[in-house]
Amino acid sequence: MNDERSDGVRGGGQARRGRKTVLVFGGSGMLGSEIVGRFEAAGGASGRNPAWIVRWTNRDIANYRNVDEAVGGAKPDVVVNCAGLTNVDRCEVDQALAYAVNAVGPSNLARACRIHGVPLFVHVSTDYVFSDGPGDAPGEPVLHRCDSRDFDPVNAYGLTKLAGELAVANEYAGRETGAAGSPDWVVVRTSRLYGRNRYNFPDFVCDVCLGARRPDGPLELMDGNFSVPTSATFLADRIFRIANRRGAGRRGAAAPRHVVHVVNPFRTAGDVPSLYGYADKVFEILSRLGLKPVRRFRSAAFGRAAAPDDDRRTARRPFSSVLEPSAEETRGGRFWDEELACYIQEKFANGIKDVR
Ligand SMILES: NC(=O)c1ccc[n+]([C@@H]2O[C@H](COP(=O)([O-])OP(=O)(O)OC[C@H]3O[C@@H](n4cnc5c(N)ncnc54)[C@H](OP(=O)(O)O)[C@@H]3O)[C@@H](O)[C@H]2O)c1
Repeated sequence: MNDERSDGVRGGGQARRGRKTVLVFGGSGMLGSEIVGRFEAAGGASGRNPAWIVRWTNRDIANYRNVDEAVGGAKPDVVVNCAGLTNVDRCEVDQALAYAVNAVGPSNLARACRIHGVPLFVHVSTDYVFSDGPGDAPGEPVLHRCDSRDFDPVNAYGLTKLAGELAVANEYAGRETGAAGSPDWVVVRTSRLYGRNRYNFPDFVCDVCLGARRPDGPLELMDGNFSVPTSATFLADRIFRIANRRGAGRRGAAAPRHVVHVVNPFRTAGDVPSLYGYADKVFEILSRLGLKPVRRFRSAAFGRAAAPDDDRRTARRPFSSVLEPSAEETRGGRFWDEELACYIQEKFANGIKDVR
C-alpha cells in the first residue's frame, strides 16, 4: 500500500479558533468522498453546529506509524474511518490483507485517537457481521438490533469487519466515562451502499436493463442476501449530524450508544429486498421514469443451506443481514425505495444518452 497517497484539507487556511476539525480516512472512497463533501457543504457555523475544517487522507491505516502521524498532526476533533477492503470476494482470496485493513486498521485508529485525546472516533462497519435464515413470518427476514451479539459472519469480509469492531471497543474498554470531555467512540453499521462517486450495483443494473452493458454470466440474481439498500449521501449526512452532536462538545444526559445502525428506513421487515428484489426495484423505477428498460434480471433460488451461494462468486453471502435502524440516527430519512428512485432520477436527469 502506498503511504504517500493524497491528503487534502479545506478551510485549513483560516484561523482555527472556534472551528472544529474532522479527519476522514478513506476519503477517496464512495462513502468517504460523500462525507468530505457533506462537511465541506456545511460551510461556516450554523445554529448549534460549529464551522468545520475538513481534512482527508488515504494513508494506509494498517500501518500504525502512518495513522499516528496523521492523527497527531491534524489534532482533529472528530476522526471518521471509511477506509476498508470492501470487495467481498477479494477479502476471501486475500484474507491477510483483509485482516490488515479491516481489523488492524480500525484498531490502529482507535489507539491513535485515544492516545491523542480525539473527542470522537467514528468507525464504519457492516451488516455482514450478521447472517441468518427467515424470521417467524414466512419470508420475513430477522431484524438485527444494534445491541445484538448474535454475530455470525459467513465470509472473510464479515469476519474481519467484526474483528475491527471488537478491536475498537477493546481499545476504549475501561476508559470511557460518558462524561463531557472524555473521548467518545461510535461504530456505525450500514448496509448495501450506493453513491454517485463510485460505480455501484444500481448503476450496473441500470446499464444492464437499458442495454448499455451485457453481464458476463446469466441474467440471474439470488432471491436471498436480504439487506437494506442505503444511500451514501444519506449516511454521510447522518454521520455529519453525529459529529455535530457528539464530537463538537455537545452531549445529551443519556450515556452515548457505541454501536448504531444507519440504513435507509423501511416499512416492515418484508419490505427489505433480496438481491434480486433490489434489481427488480431498479427495473420498476426505470419503467416508472419512462426510461423503457429492455432487459430484466430473473430470480435464482438461494437458501440458507446453499454454500457457496453462486458458482460465479468466491465468497458466500449471508442469506439475510437486515439491520434494524437506530431511531435517533435515521429519523426523518426516506424509505429505501424512495431514496433509490431519487438517485436514479438524478442520474438520468440529463437524459438517457449518458449511459449508452
Ligand atoms: N459498499 C457497501 O455496500 C458497504 C456496506 C456496508 C458497509 N460498508 C462499509 O462502509 C465503509 C466505506 O465503504 P465504501 O463503499 O465507501 O468503500 P470503497 O468505495 O471501497 O472505499 C474504501 C476506501 O478505503 C481505502 N482503502 C483501502 N485500503 C486502505 C488502506 N489499507 N488504508 C487506507 N485506506 C484504504 C480505499 O482507497 P483506494 O480506493 O485508493 O483503494 C477507499 O478510499 C467501509 O468500512 C465498508 O466496510 C460498505
